[in-house]
Amino acid sequence: MSRKVYSELNPPQRLLLGAGPTNIDPRVLKALSLPIVEHLDPYFMEVMDETVELLRYAFKTNNRMTLPISGSGSAGMESALCNVIESGDEIIVCINGFFGERISEIVQRCGGKSIEVRAPWGRIIERDFVEEALANSNAKAVAIVHAETSTGILQPLKEISNVTHEYDALLIVDAVTSLGGCELFVDEWGIDICYSASQKCLSCPPGLAPITASERAMNVIRNRRTKVQSWYLDLSTIEKYWLESNRVYHHTAPILLVYALREGLRLLYEEGIENRWMRHKRNIQALIRGLEERGLEIFTDKAHICPAVVAVNVPNWVKDEDIRRRLREEYNIAISGGLGELKGKIWRIGLMGVNSNEKNVTLILNALKNSLKIKTAENNKNLQHHTNRKIY
Ligand SMILES: Cc1ncc(COP(=O)(O)O)c(C=O)c1O
Repeated sequence: MSRKVYSELNPPQRLLLGAGPTNIDPRVLKALSLPIVEHLDPYFMEVMDETVELLRYAFKTNNRMTLPISGSGSAGMESALCNVIESGDEIIVCINGFFGERISEIVQRCGGKSIEVRAPWGRIIERDFVEEALANSNAKAVAIVHAETSTGILQPLKEISNVTHEYDALLIVDAVTSLGGCELFVDEWGIDICYSASQKCLSCPPGLAPITASERAMNVIRNRRTKVQSWYLDLSTIEKYWLESNRVYHHTAPILLVYALREGLRLLYEEGIENRWMRHKRNIQALIRGLEERGLEIFTDKAHICPAVVAVNVPNWVKDEDIRRRLREEYNIAISGGLGELKGKIWRIGLMGVNSNEKNVTLILNALKNSLKIKTAENNKNLQHHTNRKIY
């Protein structure tokens, strides 16, 4: 009987300019190939301590409870929620995109009652609506996405934080796309729990979810009536492995991913977080200018553009997938389509971490221009009419 032959992996080298993951910095890739040690090796303990220090720098926090959860961004989301929620707790969930919906789903699965405050996709959540929900409920927390990757909107947080605390609730923030690319001040803005992911502006592989929690949040967690329903994501046991000098085994940490995260954070530290925020802002602005010069429309409210990802309307004379396929096959560039209700309607172009640079802005603008031009020519030939068609 002939045996199937499995060839060596040979993935295409794409430029990942979508909504994440992003390309991995070469220094981070190098860290992934270093010798593995045990998860309780003294060497690894030092790596853990420094990773936590660097995470505090990235989150702009002094929170003791700061560590990377072993799992993707959704594990961070689930951990943030399941540690706080007990059966019947009311949580205000702000929804203006795909990931707000996910938060609401998790709240309900944790036995909480999700009180939804909605805004149209691509718009911010207004403080007054959050206040109204707080005034009419007994909410234990408000959960909100900082950079809604599905629409490219950046949510202002300070006012929402103030009103949340006026009602003595906790503020839980999804910073999956914003950490390391967009201004974020966990302590100054009074964020109680903030989680992120390794594969966006930190330019690391997916698989770790940095999280930080204030003392106020930890007091709520420590005074729960019932145990956290997830054993794996229970912060008060994970902290015994990550943060106590007498470390207790919790799970086998993904050691190489932690090396990678430490290197990704070391890059951020060397650049300086403020410089990095400015770099992201500068490059996204250049991208937006270029897109508009080519007649494309930005989907998102331009007063609140996220510096890491921008959403563009797909012109009505092309098919979303045709252009994305052309970019992938002819230019080796991946951009993202829309999620949920925006499927087929928008493209999402990300400039995250190592990928936020002038060269990539030029590359994607030229590739898009050429792809749209070819498509226009094809359309003109096939359809034989030229109504309202912009020529690129
Ligand atoms: C804002 C936001 N939250 C949560 C997630 C979920 O993260 P992951 O896909 O790493 O589980 C994502 C992923 O793109 C995201 O963009």
